[in-house]
Amino acid sequence: MRLALIGATGMVGEVMQKVLMERQFPVTEFIPVASAKSVGNPLHWNGASYLVRSLDEALAMRPDLVLMSAGGTVSLKWAPKFAAAGCFVVDNSSAWRMEPGIPLVVPEINAEALSAETKIIANPNCSTIQLVMVLKPLHDLHPIEAVRVSTYQSVTGTGKAAIDQLENERRGIFDGPMAYAHPIDLNCIPHCDAFLDNGYTKEEMKLHHETKKILGDPRVQVSATAVRVPVQGGHSESVLITFQGARPSLPAVRQILAAMPGLVVQDDPANLSYPMPRNAEGRDEVFVGRIREDLVCDRSIHLWIVADNLRKGAATNAVQIAEHLVSAGFLQTPLPPGH
Ligand SMILES: NC(=O)c1ccc[n+]([C@@H]2O[C@H](COP(=O)([O-])OP(=O)(O)OC[C@H]3O[C@@H](n4cnc5c(N)ncnc54)[C@H](OP(=O)(O)O)[C@@H]3O)[C@@H](O)[C@H]2O)c1
Repeated sequence: MRLALIGATGMVGEVMQKVLMERQFPVTEFIPVASAKSVGNPLHWNGASYLVRSLDEALAMRPDLVLMSAGGTVSLKWAPKFAAAGCFVVDNSSAWRMEPGIPLVVPEINAEALSAETKIIANPNCSTIQLVMVLKPLHDLHPIEAVRVSTYQSVTGTGKAAIDQLENERRGIFDGPMAYAHPIDLNCIPHCDAFLDNGYTKEEMKLHHETKKILGDPRVQVSATAVRVPVQGGHSESVLITFQGARPSLPAVRQILAAMPGLVVQDDPANLSYPMPRNAEGRDEVFVGRIREDLVCDRSIHLWIVADNLRKGAATNAVQIAEHLVSAGFLQTPLPPGH
């Protein structure tokens, strides 16, 4: 298994390195790739030292699998080149997600969308992954009509430059490089990604479009407000779900969600127990709590979802996709026992 990790030196790339090791993904040749500024630098992974390669060098090495987290421009240009060379590409950017024929996969939900033939696979947006992990099991039993979601998104979702901005501001430095249009410390910025003509941001429209594609049901309506907050451990979401028919009882909702692999119900307000990004950091599960009936609409419930956006929202989901490619026989190396 020759594996190229593109964007290996970035926030997602570094977590990918950890997740690949933790899950003992069977790599025989590791090819870290980054921008020209990092090419030739040493990178230590799994007890060995590697040189960071350029994209051209990586393509010439004909990897079997490419995990790509270097932004949409790199993905648009390079994913087709690797795919044409016969490599599977799991892409973390938004470049390919809504392209017809490109699977957009959360393995617990729609692993069946993977095939031997389709070489480019899109990893969904981090906010979408944690949302659909909750929506899918509910929708299967109690069809959902509409979802209204407000996000509280970690600065880690904007890459290393955003952590630098937050840390600078916490040290009193306000003239450093800015990842955001405004100071982020002690602030909430209702602006994630670029604004569009309809008044929504691209991040908000990703939640709208990607949720329908992953659920495989264009009738589910989604409106979002995405907000950046000075938090590092993960993304949080306040979600109002309206069902097509009568809402399920709260015990039924908890039972349905508790049975979903990868989801943890943490809903015990009496003991001050509910999901928070500090606790989700470093974890692969999606946490859900504050489950309650809406006071306005008798077909609606509220809940609160938290996950580490760099793990289940990015690296872990991508590695799980790769594991499915292997276990389905689309990628030839068998996984070690226990996978
Ligand atoms: N952070 C998240 O929660 C999250 C979640 C899901 C998806 N994503 C997506 O994952 C991607 C990376 O995000 P990130 O947060 O890891 O960003 P980041 O910390 O800024 O890292 C960017 C990585 O891409 C590399 N890179 C940049 N331009 C390149 C080029 N022209 N050729 C080769 N490598 C290049 C960088 O290499 P150098 O170190 O050499 O500059 C670095 O390794 C983005 O598409 C983002 O939308 C992020």
